[in-house]
Amino acid sequence: MAAGSGDNSTARQSLQLSSPVVRIGKQSPGTRLRINAVKPGVSVFQNKRAFSCRAFASLVTLAHNVGVGTCAVGHRTWLAACIFLFVRVRSHTKMKVAVTDYSFLDLSVEESILQASGHFISAWKERKSAAELPALVTDADAVITQFAPVNADVIASMQQTRVIVRYGIGVDNVDLAAARAKGIPVCNVPDYCIDEVADHTLAFILATTRQVVSNSNSLKAGKWGLATSLDQMKALRDLAVGVVGFGRIGREVVSRLKPFRCRILVYDPIAKSADIEAAGATPVALRELLSQTDVITLHCPSTADTRGMLNSESLAKTRPGVSIINLARGDLIDPNALMAALLSGHVAAAALDVFNPEPIPADHPILKLDNVILASHIASTSVPAVRKLRETAARLALMALNGEPLVNVVN
Ligand SMILES: NC(=O)c1ccc[n+]([C@@H]2O[C@H](COP(=O)([O-])OP(=O)(O)OC[C@H]3O[C@@H](n4cnc5c(N)ncnc54)[C@H](O)[C@@H]3O)[C@@H](O)[C@H]2O)c1
Repeated sequence: MAAGSGDNSTARQSLQLSSPVVRIGKQSPGTRLRINAVKPGVSVFQNKRAFSCRAFASLVTLAHNVGVGTCAVGHRTWLAACIFLFVRVRSHTKMKVAVTDYSFLDLSVEESILQASGHFISAWKERKSAAELPALVTDADAVITQFAPVNADVIASMQQTRVIVRYGIGVDNVDLAAARAKGIPVCNVPDYCIDEVADHTLAFILATTRQVVSNSNSLKAGKWGLATSLDQMKALRDLAVGVVGFGRIGREVVSRLKPFRCRILVYDPIAKSADIEAAGATPVALRELLSQTDVITLHCPSTADTRGMLNSESLAKTRPGVSIINLARGDLIDPNALMAALLSGHVAAAALDVFNPEPIPADHPILKLDNVILASHIASTSVPAVRKLRETAARLALMALNGEPLVNVVN
């Protein structure tokens, strides 16, 4: 008697229906299904996640051979068993994971988790527009996205999506409210690159206060000697640094700044003042931070409250000669206002890992400014961080496909 797919050999060996009474065994978390014969512990049918319809056909054969009419259980029990199995078969068939865009070389990490579990990935490498995305996500059971705009229309087109996973911490490219209204959880990967971004922040702060890039470029251009005016060479010991956002990254930035003996002011409307003080910083209102610091570094999310928080009005309240550091989100700063402040000299320097828009257009004037250091949204990267990001994203998608409780839900 055939016993279906999955762990076939074991199942075949153990298939001993000495009694016609059949019951459905307890389902272990999201992965296996068992029907046990009355002989205790005898496994009639066992499979892995991707078990096929062949398994169901085998069960029907089993039912036939046992003889439903002579079975010690009644028709109702058999019917219930078959319905239960049918539902499980459906929930374990190959499911589609759509990846809207990715900056990695390939999707081998994701494949090793999702394809190995019997599912398939349908992916676009380059970021597409919101109008194009429905073609990829309409029939997706899970969606993983990096920078693509997963807006309300894209979410409305999802017919059977169980989760949207963001490759990253910020979730501002996903319409969280639309996903919530449609009952789709959105998950992020909140803890994969905290040290990388905090390290990069210090690199940017020190590069601007010590004029690292200007001096290197000047020497490469054949000029020996100080590349900037003397007053541009500053020591953190003499400066006040303003940290906007005291979350995972902001805290790490504060702890890295401490040994440099600068004053540290923190603005975070949600964090507890006592926690900020315990970290050796001073909690302040945004207006104080703007007017009392020499370096301002942003570590808050992009939300309706924070978008454009550095604009012509707020930049005018900053100290002349301030440095602006942004490794959070490009849309926290009005790019035209920043350009104007850089050109006027009110803002002495900027170091930006993120910009609005991304990528920065090739002809954007900010690319020509010597007092600006730029990076293409790469502060989060390191081999372990990227590996953790991709594995976590794929595992979150798999948990949703398996019907398991999700973690890192942000909506
Ligand atoms: N450049 C990169 O590659 C990169 C990588 C990771 C994260 N990020 C960005 O950095 C941001 C911060 O990351 P995190 O891990 O510290 O997030 P987090 O959620 O741990 O912390 C965010 C903090 O911002 C605070 N906040 C919320 N609204 C605020 C407001 N109006 N003003 C000031 N603070 C406010 C919150 O209270 C919280 O403490 C993310 O939202 C993401 O956009 C960028």
